[in-house]
Amino acid sequence: MKIFVPLDSAAKALGADDVADAIAREARARGLDLHLVRNGTRGMVWLEPLVEIDTPQGRIGYGNVTPDQVPDLLDGRLNSLGRVEDIDWFARQTRLTFARCGVIDPLDLDDYAANGGLVGLRRALTMTKAQIVQEVIDSGLRGRGGAGFPTGIKWKTVSEAEAPQKYIVCNADEGDSGTFADRMIIEGDPFQLIEGMAIAGLGVGATRGYVYLRSEYPDAIAILTRAVSIARQRGLLGPDVLGSGRAFEMEVRTGAGAYVCGEETSLLNSLEGKRGTVRAKPPLPALQGFLGQPTVVNNVISLTTIPVIFERGAAHYADFGLGRSRGTVTLQIAGNVKRGGLFETAFGLTLGQVVNEIGGGTASGRPVKAVQVGGPLGAYMPVEKFHTPMGYEEFDQNGGLIGHAGLVVFDDSVDMLRMARFAMEFCAVESCGKCTPCRIGAVRGVETIDRIAQGDPAAIPLLTDLCETMKDGSLCALGGFTPFPVMSALTNFPDDFATYREAAE
Ligand code: NAI
Ligand code: SF4
Repeated sequence: MKIFVPLDSAAKALGADDVADAIAREARARGLDLHLVRNGTRGMVWLEPLVEIDTPQGRIGYGNVTPDQVPDLLDGRLNSLGRVEDIDWFARQTRLTFARCGVIDPLDLDDYAANGGLVGLRRALTMTKAQIVQEVIDSGLRGRGGAGFPTGIKWKTVSEAEAPQKYIVCNADEGDSGTFADRMIIEGDPFQLIEGMAIAGLGVGATRGYVYLRSEYPDAIAILTRAVSIARQRGLLGPDVLGSGRAFEMEVRTGAGAYVCGEETSLLNSLEGKRGTVRAKPPLPALQGFLGQPTVVNNVISLTTIPVIFERGAAHYADFGLGRSRGTVTLQIAGNVKRGGLFETAFGLTLGQVVNEIGGGTASGRPVKAVQVGGPLGAYMPVEKFHTPMGYEEFDQNGGLIGHAGLVVFDDSVDMLRMARFAMEFCAVESCGKCTPCRIGAVRGVETIDRIAQGDPAAIPLLTDLCETMKDGSLCALGGFTPFPVMSALTNFPDDFATYREAAE
């Protein structure tokens, strides 16, 4: 009998380890010949711990399993969800990047290869640098970290730069609130990231890579470190990648714990052992990045999507999507929502569909009031903007940004003035201090919102002015994008700001 219990951090937080222990104990007591696999998650966090039993009909799922249910589970007396692949929430997805996550044993390279792994790398090994870069350009893939810059164009810049050494740096400093896609794919399918980085190395002529992985993800660090070591033993990394005579080596570095280290130049400083402050651009990291050499800095989801593009072809990937947003988006649905988790789908669903149909509305059962999309620097979208399709340009036209595709849902009990204050406070705490509009502006922003809360109407135009200055004058996205949540709260939810004034009057 083969049973799967996720090792994903979210599943563990919901009791997966206790369930796995109970299954192993019960099997021993019964003398059962049981093969317990710790898989990644299928992304349906609201069903975790989701236990799966392999049967001739497919993998049958059991949701929210507790240790005391294990005897019933093994006796076949527990109510099942049916085949996991048939669960509506799962079946509605287009799983390209997350195709293997939750399916395979994350640290079994043979399982990885048996499920489509390494096909992309083997194909890339037959291609020239220029062909590899062109394939990525043709796929239409854009940076999934937040800015949406075309990945192939970034690779082209690095590929064409002349330098003795180039680098691939993976940004796994996933600091946005409500985001977890990077963590999930690393914990559930780490070889896919290694394969993506190796292909990036071949495309731009880099022989070394680093994954900057945040310290708050100890499980992901342990899994990826182990996967890198297995990959090295099995010849996927090293001086002779898969017997090709081409070299690629990589290592995992633990992030220093600051939000701003997710900004690429700050990350590079931190990786070099310096304080994580932002560097002015230009020069772009693509030309002068890690140790001053041309460097590809890509997010985890961008790099884990690369093997899919090389396995199935650029045209296949580009076939999904909407407008200039090609392929799939790995939505992370969180906050006050019934069915939270990782939902991979082609760009194009509307925000309302994601929140109401996929997420099932609020967990509290109260009406949705706002959804923050794109992390703490993303706008608060009101229900009136639920028609907005998930697409970079479409969100931009509606005053929002997709960012790393995290959504945090709030019900009508949320106070938007307090959320605006939180955004300014977050910026003040996390500011690297390099530029004045952010370092001082964010502190003044908190004070100005406090004045509004005390009923001072003159403080509202002051806040608007301050946001303009921060937007135009900040060196990086932290100071430059904090006005998004603040101004979206003020303009979309003016009543929450007026309430305080009226109370004071
Ligand atoms: P950006 O627009 O300055 O640059 C985007 C990327 O394209 C960078 O890697 C840049 O080096 C590269 N690039 C630009 N022109 C290039 C060229 N000609 N050739 C090669 N590469 C080129 O954006 P930035 O400041 O890097 O990121 C801002 C975004 O990051 C925001 O959308 C924000 O939401 C998001 N963000 C995400 C976080 C996370 O935790 N995932 C945290 C903070 C911000
Ligand atoms: Fe540093 Fe803030 Fe300026 Fe960015 S905007 S460089 S975080 S002070």
